[in-house]
Amino acid sequence: MKKTLVLKVNPKYPEINAIRIAANFIKRGSLVAFPTETVYGLGADALNLKAVGALFEAKKRPLDNPPIVHVGDAKDVLRLAKEIPPKAKNLMKYFWPGPLTLIFRRSKIVPNVTVAGLGTIAVRMPRHSVALTLIRESGCSIAAPSANLAGKPSPTMAKHVLHDLDGRIDVVLDAGSTHIGVESTVLDITVNPPQILRPGGTPYEVLKNILGKVELHPAADAQMELAVNEVRSPGMRHRHYAPDADVIVVEGELSAVVSKVKELTEYYMTGGRGKVGVLATDETIGSYQTDIAKSLGSRRNLAGIAKNLFRLLREFDTEGVDVIIAEGVTTEGLGLAVMNRLRRSSGYRIVKAKSC
Ligand code: TXA
Ligand code: MG
Repeated sequence: MKKTLVLKVNPKYPEINAIRIAANFIKRGSLVAFPTETVYGLGADALNLKAVGALFEAKKRPLDNPPIVHVGDAKDVLRLAKEIPPKAKNLMKYFWPGPLTLIFRRSKIVPNVTVAGLGTIAVRMPRHSVALTLIRESGCSIAAPSANLAGKPSPTMAKHVLHDLDGRIDVVLDAGSTHIGVESTVLDITVNPPQILRPGGTPYEVLKNILGKVELHPAADAQMELAVNEVRSPGMRHRHYAPDADVIVVEGELSAVVSKVKELTEYYMTGGRGKVGVLATDETIGSYQTDIAKSLGSRRNLAGIAKNLFRLLREFDTEGVDVIIAEGVTTEGLGLAVMNRLRRSSGYRIVKAKSC
């Protein structure tokens, strides 16, 4: 066990001394968790083979699932990628810094472990002062998967990072809650038309506006596990976002969803299956009588729902809930990222509620 150093920093105007301490850890090949606008990442020097190896170990992450490499300047991609296609230049101009990860063909200087032996590399420039200042002060490109133990919901607060990784990493930069709450959109621009491998903070509709044509990989809105040969992003293969509690997602027209959630809640409560939690919305939470009900926020505010999702899944665990029955939301806009995470957190235990 190491001692994990927690450094509190201001999210907008981070104290440079704290950032420099953290940057020195990165330079020495150590592991630093830091906030981005999406979720907290666990950072290591992307070109330091040993540091990236330690990153996989700390997270207990399977070695076939490569992290995203974070840059502090769009120009840094030139070192990491073999080429920057014209489409990518345009996307970088519009969306960086921001929650869009682009898949490029990789250059030779990137160690195999950083890209899990693939011919491609995932890169993004985050829109968060702490992240950007850390990257620039370290002088490194920083490989940073979400700072959770593999398979668990991504951390949106420093306390989530410590819950999973205290004693396993060197530093946490604590700058409060992240703004977006779901991870970046992963877009493969090595194929034509470009393909969304993971929906996230930059919605499909927004990318379509800029690109004209963009495809959604079947996994993005999958409602069941994909066959291994359909998997294009290594992360699709692994169980993800799962709290300790079992999750069941109920989808359909809203009134039918409410009836079905009530029915399932009663079933689980009377069946003596332990503590039952309902993940509801502001519009519906008053309908439920259960051990614990929590609201993701209003259905009219998908950004709020995205921001709250992982925090609430973790809260149910802290409160000892055994089964979470979760209402589905729309798959429009940020809703697609929310539903992708919820469905995967349930291991695709999805109940379709039908109106009578
Ligand atoms: O918002 C985010 O993206 C956060 C913050 C910390 O930046 N990071 C994050 O990283 O979510 P991670 O490692 O948890 O997720 C990276 C995703 C995985 O699904 C992985 O399989 C995919 O990106 N990925 C990485 N390299 C890839 C590649 N070369 N080709 C296809 N997918 C790749
Ligand atoms: Mg992750």
